[in-house]
Amino acid sequence: MIDSPHSVHVDLGPRGYRIAIGTAMLERVGALVDSCCPAQHAVVVTDENVEQPHAMTVAESLQTAGLQTDLVVLPSGESTKSIEMAENLWQRCLSVETSRQSLILAVGGGVIGDLAGFVAATYARGLRFLQIPTTLLSQVDSSVGGKVGINLPGAKNMVGAFWQPSGVLIDTATLDTLPAREYRAGLAEVVKYGVIMDEEFFEYLERTTDDIQQRNPAILIDIIERSCQLKAKIVAEDEREESGQRAILNYGHTFAHAFEAVTGYRELLHGEAVAIGMLCASRLAERLGRIDRVVTERQAELLARLDLPTSVPPLDRTKLLEAFRRDKKAEGGNVRFILPSRIGEVELVEGVDPAEALAALDD
Ligand SMILES: NC(=O)c1ccc[n+]([C@@H]2O[C@H](COP(=O)([O-])OP(=O)(O)OC[C@H]3O[C@@H](n4cnc5c(N)ncnc54)[C@H](O)[C@@H]3O)[C@@H](O)[C@H]2O)c1
Ligand SMILES: [Zn+2]
Repeated sequence: MIDSPHSVHVDLGPRGYRIAIGTAMLERVGALVDSCCPAQHAVVVTDENVEQPHAMTVAESLQTAGLQTDLVVLPSGESTKSIEMAENLWQRCLSVETSRQSLILAVGGGVIGDLAGFVAATYARGLRFLQIPTTLLSQVDSSVGGKVGINLPGAKNMVGAFWQPSGVLIDTATLDTLPAREYRAGLAEVVKYGVIMDEEFFEYLERTTDDIQQRNPAILIDIIERSCQLKAKIVAEDEREESGQRAILNYGHTFAHAFEAVTGYRELLHGEAVAIGMLCASRLAERLGRIDRVVTERQAELLARLDLPTSVPPLDRTKLLEAFRRDKKAEGGNVRFILPSRIGEVELVEGVDPAEALAALDD
């Protein structure tokens, strides 16, 4: 594995892997592949916004290291996570004689990671793959943990697998080209880690807001490393979302998914919906007498300082209620919520009356 000063191990026994975090990493992918997952052939999957310069740098590094390299550039956007694109990619793999000895590299945001990972999980009954995430959201969340998949019309992430990568390579310099709104959306998931399991990290974020806003490289490495450590810990305890441990990552997400569904996935970025969703969950916890108001206020203040939205959009309440009930976590009409008990700790609360959750939107 590459000699990187920052690395996180995802402890999954034989499926374990390392997350290497640093700068000028893309140029060294060839060397990394050689030490973590030797291959003669690589298929680099990316999207049109990431091709130049990032995916090209990766492809050149692989070629220099002597790998036969094929580059597949897909359209950007959530609609790329489709069965049509998966088929397109399966066919491309076939046409470039991809075999079990080949390696797939996903260079892009969560869309490319989820799709290329899904193709890696399914083509020839499973190929090794490397995640090279290029959005903050994918660096702190989607590239770690092995959930891969595609959407069905009207059902996000409905078809997929647990398929762990052979490694994750995070080059923070890729964030230099990321639009500000996408960057901020990723920060919502970073704040989430603080709230759900690490008060000290939350305080660190409160202290370093200005540096975070300016994308200070050292701070970026810190927050990405800590986020990956926290996610890796949960994934190692509950790889396939069976024990309930992994569910705490869904803090704010029942609300967020409802906002996204009701706005047709067009108005809010996922991270923006999560920011508002976390505040709703926290207000719900207040309603249920589980926390003091100050717990919500601290989150609201930090999110606002990071320029994330904090107020609930004016949405049809009946549709939101339907969305709560449709959420896969709903059971027997009542909904499960991940609710904070303080900054740094959350609990899974069953049997919440959806009407109570709706009322929290107006608090
Ligand atoms: N597998 C998981 O565990 C998991 C977890 C969370 C989210 N997800 C999935 O991740 C997806 C969202 O990921 P995302 O937010 O990264 O979205 P994305 O992949 O659509 O990327 C956002 C936008 O940024 C562009 N982009 C990416 N990197 C760039 C860069 N370095 N410079 C300039 N532009 C760049 C992309 O082309 C796209 O337009 C969703 O499909 C979601 O379901 C998966
Ligand atoms: Zn999320």
